[in-house]
Amino acid sequence: MTNYKLAFLGFGNVGQALADLLSKKKNEIVNNYDINFSVTGIATGRHGMAIDPNGIELSKVCDLAKRDETITSLNRNNELLSAKDFIQKCRADVMFESIPVNYENGQPAVDLIRSSLEAGLHTVSANKGPVVHAYQELTSLAKTKGIKYYFESAVMDGAPIFGLFRETLPAATVLSIHGVLNSTTNLILSRMEKGESFDQAIAYTRSLGISETDPSGDIDGWDAAVKLCALVTVLMKKPITPQEISRTGIRGITLDEIRKAQSEGLRWKLICEAKWDGNQLKTSVSPEKVEINSPFYRIDGTTSIVQIESDVLGRLTFIEENPGTHTTAYGMLADFLNIVRKN
Ligand SMILES: NC(=O)c1ccc[n+]([C@@H]2O[C@H](COP(=O)([O-])OP(=O)(O)OC[C@H]3O[C@@H](n4cnc5c(N)ncnc54)[C@H](OP(=O)(O)O)[C@@H]3O)[C@@H](O)[C@H]2O)c1
Repeated sequence: MTNYKLAFLGFGNVGQALADLLSKKKNEIVNNYDINFSVTGIATGRHGMAIDPNGIELSKVCDLAKRDETITSLNRNNELLSAKDFIQKCRADVMFESIPVNYENGQPAVDLIRSSLEAGLHTVSANKGPVVHAYQELTSLAKTKGIKYYFESAVMDGAPIFGLFRETLPAATVLSIHGVLNSTTNLILSRMEKGESFDQAIAYTRSLGISETDPSGDIDGWDAAVKLCALVTVLMKKPITPQEISRTGIRGITLDEIRKAQSEGLRWKLICEAKWDGNQLKTSVSPEKVEINSPFYRIDGTTSIVQIESDVLGRLTFIEENPGTHTTAYGMLADFLNIVRKN
């Protein structure tokens, strides 16, 4: 039996879902993989940090988090001064990073993942910012240290896109990527098809807690562009920033246009696209009308889809139906097991 010490950097929606999943799967992991684990450190932004080498009881942290209370009372270490101080002192084997995304430069997650890797911790991240802004640097740092930086949950939550190409499809060259990758805009367009105005549809996505108070990151296509960048950077091996992507959001689509498309048997979707044109990579995020025989036509609500074309397998299509924090948590758990398991 191998024992692993786990630490969490971020304990919000995703961190708590991961804690829940680790508790539920513990016996299965012990029995099937000969792997045991304990959580020895948790750091948040405004709710304190705690290290306990004997293991922190996850149910206690979850209770505190649900009551919006600080977790400092669980700390059995000297005072922890900062997230970097926490990383230095937590003495874990694996760090799970799930702090808020920064689309512009990936910070502070890039610096914190770098510190975690420098301290010798395998690092599993749900954050797309560092993939877009520092994938090559962080991956080569991990390699130098003989450890891993995995980030399956950064795009399409737990759907195994990055792992599939890394582990199962060696020597496959990705030629193009098409997808509907932003669930908020897809849900807004689906609600407008049912007769809601743009503003009513946004209010609905807010009521479900899936869009921000300022939803412009979704509506103007930034989130979709960042996800496309992450896929292109890793799978097409071409680092690209969201600013380089030709981007149009869904603000301009009126209820009349939605109805007209419906009457023609078409549906509006916010389509992400990347493809080689000779030596040039063409990338875009823009609303397009899709017809009934397109695989994108039936993608409703928060479901997302990506179609990846390679030189060896033609087009592979992945559909993730109704994802949530539980699927993001599974992507992180799978990364952890794929890093440490021997069978
Ligand atoms: N939600 C999803 O379904 C989903 C899906 C895929 C990927 N993701 C990605 O997962 C990440 C987390 O999402 P979430 O929904 O869990 O966010 P969240 O609920 O806002 O939680 C963020 C957590 O990070 C902590 N934090 C903030 N700044 C920190 C810092 N500098 N150092 C340490 N901890 C810090 C916060 O602590 P305080 O609350 O105390 O400030 C909180 O515990 C994001 O990058 C997101 O893009 C989320």
